[in-house]
Amino acid sequence: MSDDRFPMKPALRDLRPYEPGLSAEALRRKIGGERPIVKLGSNEGPWGPLPAAAQAIRDHVDGLNRYPDGAFHELRGTLAEITGARPDQVVLGNGADTILINLSLALLEPGDEVVFGWPSFITYPISVRKVDAVPVMVPLDDQHRYDLDAMLAKVTDRTRMVYVCNPNNPTGTYVDRERLTRFVDALPEHVLCVVDEAYHEYVTADDYADSIAEIVVAGGRENVLVLRTMSKIYGLAGLRVGWGVGPAHVVRAIDTVRGPFEMNALANEAALASLGQRELLAERVAANEAGRAQLGDALREVGLDPIPGVGNFLCVQLPAGLAGREVAQRLEDVGVIVRPLEMFGMPDGVRITVGTPEENEVAVAAIRDVLPALVG
Ligand SMILES: Cc1ncc(COP(=O)(O)O)c(C=O)c1O
Repeated sequence: MSDDRFPMKPALRDLRPYEPGLSAEALRRKIGGERPIVKLGSNEGPWGPLPAAAQAIRDHVDGLNRYPDGAFHELRGTLAEITGARPDQVVLGNGADTILINLSLALLEPGDEVVFGWPSFITYPISVRKVDAVPVMVPLDDQHRYDLDAMLAKVTDRTRMVYVCNPNNPTGTYVDRERLTRFVDALPEHVLCVVDEAYHEYVTADDYADSIAEIVVAGGRENVLVLRTMSKIYGLAGLRVGWGVGPAHVVRAIDTVRGPFEMNALANEAALASLGQRELLAERVAANEAGRAQLGDALREVGLDPIPGVGNFLCVQLPAGLAGREVAQRLEDVGVIVRPLEMFGMPDGVRITVGTPEENEVAVAAIRDVLPALVG
């Protein structure tokens, strides 16, 4: 059958399917052998689900013949209670990624514009282009941070949304409370600000805002949707739980376009059991800080200059002539998976996720072993 019998719609023809980071299984097939493989390429939390979540998953297995509660009342209610928002302000999705796609489906007409910083999260341009809208990518500032003034200058009558990735994936930098609040207040009324806080829980800086509490709930702003995920510190990436808090009519628009059972029953149970486990999260935050410092030291030791990042990863812009792909390849040869960043708009960059202490040790040894010859 010819390829053009069922052509994709024109808006999609230049898009490629999303390429996830390399899996440990795929690298094992590639390099064989027995050496440990350490996956630090996808910014996942390195620990498993919290014990209460793992137990909730086991407890619910026998109930999987039933559909989940399609409205996810209990989870919405719990998230509302924890954040101080109303339940009708809480949005849920099969990962934050799916909320981003649903936002496009719900709000964008062909030709509408969405402004965001670049390099940044790869889903932004993809989710915008899927509905034939126009991504407007604004270079980061000279410290690799979102340049909110430059973004404001790109807002037009066609702009429907702006994304602020905070902290930014892949650079790890953040915009502080004051700059973010000023930006949100300066946006024209027809523009929704989506603040993507996938790495929120890891950030300990005093001037980093809790946007849900400060900007949406206490601030009462109706032009801001804040997104969070349980894929990172909660260790539930494999289950897919994304959520957010924002204007009730936007939540309703997303509910209108989403699938009937957007999240699955195990995700629902695991999310409910995970919330409120503050002490265990604090331990993970502390371990992340120590691991990030350790990886940063190792990178500096071999002559690299990681961008000061506040999430569970570090990003390095490589010396002239050295591609992220090449560095990633050499580290893969010794069993360490990192992420080359060409798809994120940074071909001369690599990103490494903080692992467990044991994984970080393996990564540090690999950095010392492989990188000096490349960096020169
Ligand atoms: C900035 C950002 N937003 C959203 C996501 C997607 O999160 P989820 O796993 O909930 O789809 C990621 C995942 O890497 C991310 O880095």
